[in-house]
Amino acid sequence: MVNKKVSIIGVGNVGSTLAYALANKGICSSIVLKDIRENIVQAMALDISQSANAAKSHTVVKAAKDGKDLENSDVVVITAGIPRKPGMSRDDLLLTNAKIMQSVIEDVKTYASNAIVIVVSNPLDAMVYTALKTSGFSSNQIVGMAGILDSARMSHFILEKVGFGAGQIESSVMGGHGDDMVPLPNYSTVAGVAITEILSKEEITEIVEKTKNGGLQIVKLLETGSAYYAPAHATSLMVEAILNNQKKIYPCSVYLNGEYGYKDIVTGVPVMLGSKGVEKIFELELNEMQKSLFDNSVKSVQTLVDVLEEKFF
Ligand code: LMR
Repeated sequence: MVNKKVSIIGVGNVGSTLAYALANKGICSSIVLKDIRENIVQAMALDISQSANAAKSHTVVKAAKDGKDLENSDVVVITAGIPRKPGMSRDDLLLTNAKIMQSVIEDVKTYASNAIVIVVSNPLDAMVYTALKTSGFSSNQIVGMAGILDSARMSHFILEKVGFGAGQIESSVMGGHGDDMVPLPNYSTVAGVAITEILSKEEITEIVEKTKNGGLQIVKLLETGSAYYAPAHATSLMVEAILNNQKKIYPCSVYLNGEYGYKDIVTGVPVMLGSKGVEKIFELELNEMQKSLFDNSVKSVQTLVDVLEEKFF
């Protein structure tokens, strides 16, 4: 993409893997990496830039010296924050990561106030809320990455169970990116065939539970961090949809203003992504059971938002 700039704030595993994917594919002309660890971010910028040269990509990768280097960004991705450790839920990161989010979003506000912002930090929905309230940006401008990741995890577990249809599985997960997320089996298909036609109730329940615990499973195995390949790839799809004005429909974490009967809360729903960020929110028909699971998931996000409101806003 000619003259498109992506800045990534927080260059840990997800941020650096994302930069690597975007640079090698030549999705944008410029990538700026920003992190408080000066030597690490310089090393990442050099290494990824050299990789882009090996890939004969035109993307130039640089480490930011200060916030000014975010100027003229089309997209800013925020992955800054600490990851959870085994035994923790994403929600345990709330106060630490909210403080980090508040400080990094100030730079975005000052230097890149026209950029579309993709939030990846956890607890995801509460961090999107923090970014929105701190920046005062419009709700189409800030969007959280989680639904693509959770849906990809569901597809993985469906494939594991059915044993066929690799690359032909579409899954749908809604609600907050937390323990109460809502995988939707009747919106999940193998080459267009609903999984409810292929699998038993017990098998589907197993897939749903595994999907909800997909992040935790990796946290437990890694011991010192959380997943990054799938989160980075999911984020790269969102970056591409925005830069190329693709109008793709993805499940993302967004601010609701009346949709699904909710206002002033952030949660995961299907949206259209284009150059204006969140260009449309789709309201799926949910049956009674799904609606009550969705309500429960939104309630969990609301509990976090209530803490944020009391401490920060
Ligand atoms: C994930 O789902 O992989 C991320 O939200 C990281 C985590 O803590 O599980």
